[in-house]
Amino acid sequence: LNDIPRDEAYDNTLALLKEGYAFISRRCDKLGTDIFRTRLMLRKVICMRGAEAAHVFYGSGNFTRRSAMPPTTLRLLQDKGSVQLLDDAPHQHRKAMFLSLTLEPGQVGRLRAIFAGHWLQAIPAWQQRRELSLFDAVNRVLTQAVCEWAGVPLDEKPAEEMTRELVAMIENAGGVGPRTWQALILRNRSERFVAKLVERVRKGELALPRDAPLRIMAQHRNVQDNALDTKSAAVEVLNLLRPVVAVGRFIMFAAMALEEHRQWKERFAAGEEDDLESFAEEVRRLYPFFPFVGGRARQEFRWRDYRFRKGDWVLLDLHGTNHDPRRFPEPDRFEPGRGLSWKKLGYDFIPQGGGDPYVTHRCPGEEITVELMKEAVRLLTRSMRYDVPEQNLFLDSSRMPARPERGFRISNIRASEGR
Ligand code: HEM
Repeated sequence: LNDIPRDEAYDNTLALLKEGYAFISRRCDKLGTDIFRTRLMLRKVICMRGAEAAHVFYGSGNFTRRSAMPPTTLRLLQDKGSVQLLDDAPHQHRKAMFLSLTLEPGQVGRLRAIFAGHWLQAIPAWQQRRELSLFDAVNRVLTQAVCEWAGVPLDEKPAEEMTRELVAMIENAGGVGPRTWQALILRNRSERFVAKLVERVRKGELALPRDAPLRIMAQHRNVQDNALDTKSAAVEVLNLLRPVVAVGRFIMFAAMALEEHRQWKERFAAGEEDDLESFAEEVRRLYPFFPFVGGRARQEFRWRDYRFRKGDWVLLDLHGTNHDPRRFPEPDRFEPGRGLSWKKLGYDFIPQGGGDPYVTHRCPGEEITVELMKEAVRLLTRSMRYDVPEQNLFLDSSRMPARPERGFRISNIRASEGR
C-alpha cells in the first residue's frame, strides 16, 4: 500500500477560498495524481477527482454524508433530519419517496407547465422595466411555480419573501460570516412557515390534492412505519422548494450560452427540439455550480493502492471531474455535441452527483432540472425577445456558487408569439 500524496502546505483553507473551483484539480495536476491529502480548517482531508474517484465515492457504500460538511453549509442546504444524512435502508426508503415525485412524468410535466404559465404571465411586467436581472426574475418565477406545484399557498407569504429566503440558502451555502448568519435566520423563517403547513395538512385543515408534494411529504412514513417529526417533514419539503429555485442559476447560464453561441439561439428560435437536451446538459457540465461534495469513510477500505480509514473526511471534486480533459477534450469549450445525459447514470458527468439515485446520494432532481432548463430555453428563444446590454459577465471562481455579480441583465423585453 502507498501513502496518499500530500500537498506541501500545512493548511489550505485560504487557498481553497482563493482558488475556489480550481483548488482540487490544480493540486492534482501539480502532483500528477487524482488524490491527495491536505488540511482544511486544520482538519485532515483527502481530495479526489475523476470518474474512478467518483465511482468509489458514490458506488461503494463506503461513505456517509454525516459530519461531512461545515455546519452552516449543512444547515442552509439540507439540515438535520434530511434524506442526505440517512444511510442504507432508511435512506433508500426516503429516497424512493423523493424519486416517486421527481421522476414521475405526470409530476414533472405539471411542474413544467406551471413554470411556463408563471413565466408567460410575468412578461408584461418585465416589459415595463428598462432593464432587469434575468437571474432575479427567473428565481421569482421558479418560486411561484414550485410553491404552486408543491401545494404551498403563496397567498399566505408574499412571493418576494419566499424567493428571498430560498435564494439566500443557495447563495450563502459556501460562505462564512454575517451574510451567512442572515441566511440562517431566513432559513429558520421558511422552516417555521413550512412546519405549520405540515401540521395543518396532518390535521386536515389544509386540503390538498392527493398528488401534491406537500401532502405526500406530510403523510410520508419512515422505514419503521412512523410519521416523520414535523421538523424533518418541513426540511424535506424545503428539499424540494430550494433546489427547484436553484435551477435558476443554470437557466441564467443557459441564457448566457445562448448569447455567446448565437447559432444555437437561432436554431431553438426556429423550433429545433432535437439538440435542446444536449444543449442543457452541456450547460450543466461547463458552468460552475456545486464545486465538490463531502463524505466520511464508514469503514476501512482500499482504493487503487491507497488505504482509507474509518472516519476519513473526503472531498470529491464534481466540477473538476466535469472538466477532466481525459474524458472531455478541450473541457472549457462549450460543445453540446458531446452527447451527455444524466440518464446514463455514470460517474464521469456528475454536476449533481453520480451513480444510481435510488441507491446513492445522487441528486433526485436531474430530470426536473433538465426539463425546466429546456422549457426556459424555449421561452427565452420563442416567447420573448430582448437585448443584452454591455455588462460584466465575469465568473469569479473563488465565489462558490459563482455567478455574474449582477445576474445576467436583459433589456428592451418584448413578448413574441411562438412556443
Ligand atoms: C439546480 C440544480 C441542482 C444541483 C446543482 C443539485 C446538486 C446536487 C448534488 C451535487 C447532490 C448530491 C449530494 C451528495 O452526493 O451528497 C444533490 C442531492 C440532492 N438534491 Fe439536488 N441539485 C439540483 C437540483 C435539485 C432538484 C430540482 C431537487 C428536487 C426537486 C433536488 C433535491 C436533492 C435532494 C433531496 C438531494 C439529497 C439526495 C440524497 O442524499 O440521496 N436537487 N443535489
